[in-house]
Amino acid sequence: MKITFYGHACVAIDVSGKHILVDPFITANPKASHIDINLLKADYILLTHAHRDHILDVEAIAKRTDATIVSTYEVATHFGDKGYKYHPMNHGGSWQFDFGKVKIVNAVHSSSFSDGSYGGNPAGFVIEGEHKKIYISGDTALTYDMKLIPLRTKLDLAILSIGNNFTMDVDDAIIAADFVECDKILGVHYDTFGYIEIDHDQAKKKFFDAQKDLMLLEIGQSINL
Ligand code: NI
Ligand code: MN
Repeated sequence: MKITFYGHACVAIDVSGKHILVDPFITANPKASHIDINLLKADYILLTHAHRDHILDVEAIAKRTDATIVSTYEVATHFGDKGYKYHPMNHGGSWQFDFGKVKIVNAVHSSSFSDGSYGGNPAGFVIEGEHKKIYISGDTALTYDMKLIPLRTKLDLAILSIGNNFTMDVDDAIIAADFVECDKILGVHYDTFGYIEIDHDQAKKKFFDAQKDLMLLEIGQSINL
């Protein structure tokens, strides 16, 4: 399983020969100006919620790639109604795709489209494929619901929001890592806007002091699990 960071909360997951893109927000992210969305591969686009900083580039990428949009019922059908391929899910449910399994888990946040229309409840994902298991928190507060995840799943990686203001800060994300019982963390949802700038060295040291490894990738950089 290969994971590439495309800035903000956008990651690509290459697993079982398929390309999965999560929460594409690239063309309006000045920090990701070196990423060309026309070159991104996508068989599936997974969306945690309807906020603009998670769905901005969905239509452009889905139009070109014919990717299937996987999200909560409200977000998936929003794009389905516009003619895109979609797979609606909802919290607590999982589905076996051709690349592996996706489960939708709780996130404590909000979810609405830019025009104010209802975007369902915000979600996180647990994704399993190639015998690796990862958690994507989505935009969320720290919540006790995270403790449910290790009851079913021994995670290899947790992708956590760490930028504060809209989501967990670094200290809450360290507790979240404890709750999901995973010591390998990829931080997302930081630095994109002034509200969520973080001190990288201090964040890494805090995780290190808690016996955890926080990875902060350059935009476009990949890791292999
Ligand atoms: Ni959000
Ligand atoms: Mn967000």
